[in-house]
Amino acid sequence: MIVVSGIQPTGKPHLGNYLGAIRNYVKLQDEAHAGGGKCFIFLADLHALSMPHEPAELHASTLEMVATLVACGLDPANTTLFNQAQVPQHAELQWLLMGTARMGWLNRMTQWKDKAGKNREGQSVALFSYPVLQAADVLLYQATHVPVGEDQKQHLELARDIAQKFNNDFASEDAPVFTLPEPYIPEAAARIMSLRDGTRKMSKSEPSDMSRINLTDDADEMAQKFRKARTDPEPLPSEMAGLDDRAEASNLVTIYAALAETSPDAVLGEHGGKGFGEFKPALADLAISVLGPIRDRFVELKQDRESLDAILARGAAQARDAGAPTLDAAYNALGL
Ligand code: ADP
Ligand code: NA
Repeated sequence: MIVVSGIQPTGKPHLGNYLGAIRNYVKLQDEAHAGGGKCFIFLADLHALSMPHEPAELHASTLEMVATLVACGLDPANTTLFNQAQVPQHAELQWLLMGTARMGWLNRMTQWKDKAGKNREGQSVALFSYPVLQAADVLLYQATHVPVGEDQKQHLELARDIAQKFNNDFASEDAPVFTLPEPYIPEAAARIMSLRDGTRKMSKSEPSDMSRINLTDDADEMAQKFRKARTDPEPLPSEMAGLDDRAEASNLVTIYAALAETSPDAVLGEHGGKGFGEFKPALADLAISVLGPIRDRFVELKQDRESLDAILARGAAQARDAGAPTLDAAYNALGL
């Protein structure tokens, strides 16, 4: 079992990132470690170049994200934790894959279409070719399990297509250069929506800070955000089926269930019949009890910049070693 996943170090990590991604990294790290496998989690700082960015902020937010990941339970002794920019093999392998990836494949990526909108001509080449770098990210380590949200599934399928075509075109059948990675979408990976609009996902890119719970929020901020979360005047029903047309209410129940590691129906079994005046404080208390200790560890780690730099330097050295054989095999296969 070789687990590989990346997270962009831009903006503050929020509850959606924790429940949809980071918590699963920790579970997979523990599974991989118990079974003699490996876990690679990286900060996708090279990917950040695909959109306008502030150079001065990028390094600072990379360090913040490392502190967050460690605070959430990733253990640098069991996980290779690093940033792409310190492992040039990612960019190198991307270039080797550029000859295999097809324009038409990239043109079909829904994230490209969404982000570029009507202004394709004005986008960076990096935004278009980003999924090829993503393919390199996982193929470099012969990943078997790639934990991703639903939104990234298409990119992972592209990585499989690239790996398969490369193997077909340049490797013999009994000695493929790349392992085809499997998407790993844990059933419990909740999709957390904005606290201000139940039809939009909770995201770093939402303008209102009230729309998301940041992992760096203190108890008062969390309580206030839940108190002000948009809801409706009806009490909670006793089953999820009763929340079909109530996106905001449904989101709060989903968040409660994910934090309590139980099912939404079990939450409604306990809280059905209550109004939000009663449910929101219970949800805030739960969030504070789960996220409070993470925040405390984060605050402590963040002050220790030297340790964070050391974690990244050590992780990068391990990653460079781990990726070297695949990169050599790719060069050889291409006649380089
Ligand atoms: P953001 O949309 O806030 O910029 P990213 O795109 O950096 O978040 O996503 C990082 C990881 O967090 C990805 O694995 C993504 O699937 C997951 N993720 C992001 N937002 C949510 C959400 N609202 N609910 C569940 N998972 C999410
Ligand atoms: Na995003």
